[in-house]
Amino acid sequence: MITILNDNFNELNQFLHEKSFSKIFILVDENTHEYCLPVLLGNMETDLGFEILEIEAGEEMKNIQTANQLWEILTEMQADRKALVINLGGGVITDMGGFVASTYKRGIQFINIPTTLLSMCDASIGGKTGIDLMHYKNMVGTFAFPEQIFIYPKFLETLPFKELRSGFAEMLKHGLIADRAHWDQLIQIHKLDVEAVIPHIQTSMNIKQEVVEKDFHEKNIRKTLNFGHTIGHAVESLCLQQGNPILHGEAVAMGMICEAHLGYLENLISEEDSQRIIENIQRYYPYLDISDFKDDDITALLLNDKKNTDSKINFSLLSEIGKCTYDYQCSQKNILESLHFYRKLNDA
Ligand SMILES: NC(=O)c1ccc[n+]([C@@H]2O[C@H](COP(=O)([O-])OP(=O)(O)OC[C@H]3O[C@@H](n4cnc5c(N)ncnc54)[C@H](O)[C@@H]3O)[C@@H](O)[C@H]2O)c1
Ligand SMILES: [Zn+2]
Repeated sequence: MITILNDNFNELNQFLHEKSFSKIFILVDENTHEYCLPVLLGNMETDLGFEILEIEAGEEMKNIQTANQLWEILTEMQADRKALVINLGGGVITDMGGFVASTYKRGIQFINIPTTLLSMCDASIGGKTGIDLMHYKNMVGTFAFPEQIFIYPKFLETLPFKELRSGFAEMLKHGLIADRAHWDQLIQIHKLDVEAVIPHIQTSMNIKQEVVEKDFHEKNIRKTLNFGHTIGHAVESLCLQQGNPILHGEAVAMGMICEAHLGYLENLISEEDSQRIIENIQRYYPYLDISDFKDDDITALLLNDKKNTDSKINFSLLSEIGKCTYDYQCSQKNILESLHFYRKLNDA
């Protein structure tokens, strides 16, 4: 299902030869068109015809208008039920392309070739596709699996550092929720760069894959992947509303700091473990200034979280490094205390 490609892209070519597709549609954004498509086309060996579908880069494109344009282009180009969509890009492309492919003619086949660290370790795995609706993220979508996921780690060489660091937050999360050894290895990294992260990508992907296989529909253990995301998402939304968007991983890093401390306040995790987590995350991520956000605004967003039930805020919190609980409801006092704790970190 997940294959790491060597320089000759053998496994991808074999896959294209073995299946009888009618035509190939390669979805890219302007950056993956420039940096990744030449590498793919230079190595792809197929007699099939192909078309390039390009969209502008950015989360703002992950909407119904873009989906509609893509459905129309597929129709105009007479994509039939045996057509293949290749999603070559970050999470926006794999989410969007998966959504379009899984709905066009009630579903045609697609593969993901993720090109950001976040999409390699997280977004391309797990079968969730989707688009944003108004300012709500991933409001409309499908559960649909790619035929295959092909990883070519060298694509990361052109990725901006901030994007690499954003994806690294999800890797740290995977270690924290499920695999202490993975976390221990990641925090050995002193200088965060492509060379340092590549050896750890496969372990991180496997963690996500295993969690998803155990609980595809997010009834139980898949919820642990939301560690750091309850407070993280709220802050991500507020930054967006203010006109200062931050990267998802930056928000998750901040969220993991708050939620590690929250776990300590709720007596779930030892002070020592929570401090170790916080200090290590701080080594990689600059402080995020949340002084403009009011407690009430953050709480209002927390109450709106998709994971909630019965109007209670459900957290996924660590009980130790490598173990995570879910559907945990915290006291309002402790939630506010964890935000207060984060604000004080700026003075330290
Ligand atoms: N489906 C899921 O389970 C899941 C999980 C996590 C995140 N997501 C989604 O993923 C999206 C975020 O993904 P992302 O961080 O990859 O964002 P992205 O797709 O916007 O990529 C980030 C930026 O990097 C550029 N880029 C991509 N590959 C590059 C390369 N190799 N070299 C140079 N530039 C490159 C892109 O053009 C873009 O500007 C969000 O929409 C989020 O909702 C989905
Ligand atoms: Zn995330």
